[in-house]
Amino acid sequence: MSIDLHNRRAVVTGAASGFGKAVTHELLRSGATVVATDVDTDGLTRLTDEANTDALRTERLDVGDATSWTALIADAGPFDLAILNAGVATHHIRPEGALPVLGLDTERYRTVMSANIDGVVFGTQAVLEHMTATGFGDIIVTASVAGLVPIAPDPVYGLTKHAVVGFVRSLASALDQHAEPLDIHISAICPGFADTAILPDDAKVNLQALGVELLTAERVAETMMRAIKERTNGAQWVVWGGYEDEQYEWNQIRPLIPAFVAGEQ
Ligand SMILES: NC(=O)c1ccc[n+]([C@@H]2O[C@H](COP(=O)([O-])OP(=O)(O)OC[C@H]3O[C@@H](n4cnc5c(N)ncnc54)[C@H](O)[C@@H]3O)[C@@H](O)[C@H]2O)c1
Repeated sequence: MSIDLHNRRAVVTGAASGFGKAVTHELLRSGATVVATDVDTDGLTRLTDEANTDALRTERLDVGDATSWTALIADAGPFDLAILNAGVATHHIRPEGALPVLGLDTERYRTVMSANIDGVVFGTQAVLEHMTATGFGDIIVTASVAGLVPIAPDPVYGLTKHAVVGFVRSLASALDQHAEPLDIHISAICPGFADTAILPDDAKVNLQALGVELLTAERVAETMMRAIKERTNGAQWVVWGGYEDEQYEWNQIRPLIPAFVAGEQ
C-alpha cells in the first residue's frame, strides 16, 4: 500500500516479532521514523540488523508498565502515530477435558491482562497527550477477531480483546465529541488466525486441517497501513485468511445514553 509517512514519528509495540515487526518494515518503507519496542531485546536486535536504517530506533518497553511509557516518551518521543500491538495468549496447560479458565494461575492471568489491556491503555495515555496538544495523530490497536466473536479455547484472551475493541470504539466516540475539533483517529485491527509465534505449532496444524487459511504477518501489516491511510475513527478492521478486509458492523441498538453515543450529540 503506497502511503507517504515522511515527517511522521511512529512508536510500535511488540515489534520484535510477527505483526509488529512486519508493520515496522512497512512504516520504514513509507518514510516514517520508527521507535520499535518490545520486551524481547534479541528480537529487536534482529529487527535492527534487517532494517539497517537510521530511521529506526529500538527500545526495551514492557507495555504494561506505565512508568516505562513515561520514560519512553521523555527519551524517544513525542509520537504522532502509535501502533499498540504487543499481546500474549494464556497458553496454560489444562487437564484433558477441563474447561479453559480452570487452572489458569494468577500470575499468568495478570501477565495477559497487563500486556493486552494495560499496554493499550497506558500506551494511549502516553501518546495522546502530545496528539491532543497538536490536534493531530493516529492510534492503531491490534485487537483480534477474538474481540468480536467468542473464542472458546481461551476465554481470558477473548476478554482482553473484547475490552480493547470497547476501548477503541469508546475513545473514538470521545474524540468525535471533543469540544475542539481534533484530527486524531483510533482504530482496531481484528485479525483471524495468523502464522506467528503467539499461536502454538499444534494449533496451527489443527487449524490448517480444518481448512483455515493462516494469515501472514505481512498481510496483517498491509491492513494496518490501510487503517493508517483511511483514518476511519473507531473502525474495527477484520482481516481473515482468504477474504478481503472489511470493517465490522455492529447491530444498531437503541442508544442507551444518547448523549454519550457517537453521532447522538
Ligand atoms: N497471530 C494471531 O493469530 C493473532 C490473531 C489476532 C490478533 N493477534 C494479536 O496480534 C498482536 C501481535 O501478535 P503476533 O501474532 O504478532 O504474535 P508474536 O508473538 O509474534 O508478537 C507479539 C510480540 O509482543 C511482545 N510482547 C508480549 N508481551 C509484551 C509486553 N508486556 N510488553 C512488550 N512487548 C510484549 C512479544 O515479545 C512479541 O514480540 C497481539 O496483540 C495478538 O494478540 C494475533
